[in-house]
Amino acid sequence: MRGRSGLSALGVICCYIGLNPQINADGITKEEQIYLLIAEKASCDQHILNKSEEDGSCSPEWDGLTCWPSGLAGELTAVPCPSYIYDFNHNGFAYRQCEDDAKWKFVENLNRTWTNYTECITFLQTDNSNRQDLFERLYVMYTVGYSVSLCSLTIAIMIIGYFK
Ligand SMILES: *[C@@H]1O[C@H](CO)[C@@H](O)[C@H](O)[C@H]1NC(C)=O
Ligand SMILES: *[C@@H]1O[C@H](CO)[C@@H](O)[C@H](O)[C@H]1NC(C)=O
Repeated sequence: MRGRSGLSALGVICCYIGLNPQINADGITKEEQIYLLIAEKASCDQHILNKSEEDGSCSPEWDGLTCWPSGLAGELTAVPCPSYIYDFNHNGFAYRQCEDDAKWKFVENLNRTWTNYTECITFLQTDNSNRQDLFERLYVMYTVGYSVSLCSLTIAIMIIGYFK
């Protein structure tokens, strides 16, 4: 019994997060933004698969927002700020540094690859917390994309459990 109520609670939480309209971006719905990101990630994965490994260059990868091409060792790689992120400044570029050893520059204390998205969010810079907020919101949107399906799965499990 205890297990089932735990499951229901999880279901309710998932549905609440999934359907909470407060995480809407302005001018575009959360679902549209998730859909764009998922589609973009799929095409990036495809692009990476079709590309053969190259020695002496940083490998292409999806960082959650942008599809990075392979980078030349020792050079700064620039990509236009993703057009499918509604909140971004679409005139700027995002940067990553490919080190001499053909590895993307890594920030040890953050445990993640160094990326400069400053230009993509310049027009939001009046308020630093705003910027943090944007990244958190994008992160939430991205993860919610998956929790929505988890939500349906949980409901399905509960229904199966009920009628057994
Ligand atoms: C850094 O992240 C990787 C994968 O995201 C993880 O496996 C590793 O434990 C992390 N290292 C530290 C020091 O947090
Ligand atoms: C990030 O890019 C901006 C704009 O191109 C630049 O002014 C800034 O110095 C860069 N930040 C770092 C840490 O390199």
